[in-house]
Amino acid sequence: MAGTEPQAPAAVTEVERLAQLTPQALAMLGELVEQSHWNQTFDDWRVFFDSGAIYVVRDDAGRFLASGAVLPMGESRPGCLASVTGRGVAWISMILVTPASRGRGLGRLVFRECLRHIQAQGRIAMLDATPAGEALYAKFGFEVLWRLTRWRREARPATAPELPPSHPDLDSLAELDQEALGFSRPALLRALLERPDSRCVRQPQGFAIVRSGRVAHHIGPLVAVDEAAAIAVLRDAAARYGGPLLIDVPDERPRLREALLHAGFTPQRGFARMALALGGQCVPQGQAHFIHAVAGPEFA
Ligand SMILES: CC(C)(COP(=O)(O)OP(=O)(O)OC[C@H]1O[C@@H](n2cnc3c(N)ncnc32)[C@H](O)[C@@H]1OP(=O)(O)O)[C@@H](O)C(=O)NCCC(=O)NCCS
Repeated sequence: MAGTEPQAPAAVTEVERLAQLTPQALAMLGELVEQSHWNQTFDDWRVFFDSGAIYVVRDDAGRFLASGAVLPMGESRPGCLASVTGRGVAWISMILVTPASRGRGLGRLVFRECLRHIQAQGRIAMLDATPAGEALYAKFGFEVLWRLTRWRREARPATAPELPPSHPDLDSLAELDQEALGFSRPALLRALLERPDSRCVRQPQGFAIVRSGRVAHHIGPLVAVDEAAAIAVLRDAAARYGGPLLIDVPDERPRLREALLHAGFTPQRGFARMALALGGQCVPQGQAHFIHAVAGPEFA
């Protein structure tokens, strides 16, 4: 009977840059995160909105079917071609499609818009991809730089007192961070550190930031001169928390891997750090061996 047949989903062709981060918009973005069992919070979405851009695709009723975010990074390390040409890096993340709408081209659509945004600024696009995302981004020419693994530790009693609120010297942390990454992100570090629940583990040869997430605290970035220093920072951070913990660690860290297993962490899934540098662009080369945990796939 006419009118009772299930309707094929309408072709969605419009990607919209979010103009206002209203409570309703935040709630819908939060639903996208929850549906994919990710860890980001409203505070994380605010970082993208305040310092970058959020793109969405809506259905006819205005509900979000897909999202994507762009976050411009700061200065590239002196000496790198990216700094000479004045082109910085921008991070793409939060490419999320509601499970019922996957396989209809929405992921590609919203990702393409994020990439256009970055390329219009002459920046180099970088990201940390899940396996599903990696397949999509490879089609745009993104190449894998290195791989990392998400580790999770379930709740267990803390064995050291809670860390006091963090007031570290941001300039010195930002300098070490830039050295490691090859580009700077002091505003992001400040935004993460200023959250009331954030803590910083600062040791002579390394540091880590720990922040709240939707389902677990997240340790990262963890920057240290070598694996021994990174292990000391990790142990200190992990001992302070009784709740679940997440950390995203580059794969070439055999000693840190042993320490993670020993501390009760188990590997969850892999990510690939990817970049797309067009003609004349060069991906900033930091000192990647100083990076022992990234800030999170959404933040570099
Ligand atoms: C990854 C994700 C965003 C893809 O969105 P989508 O709307 O289903 O993807 P599209 O329909 O636009 O497909 C785009 C392309 O990627 C390919 N693709 C999508 N998911 C894939 C998968 N899991 N494995 C291999 N290829 C995949 C499609 O075949 C398609 O290729 P084509 O354009 O050459 O035909 C979606 O599956 C998702 O939200 N996953 C959970 C969150 C996530 O992992 N996001 C990526 C973060 S880096």
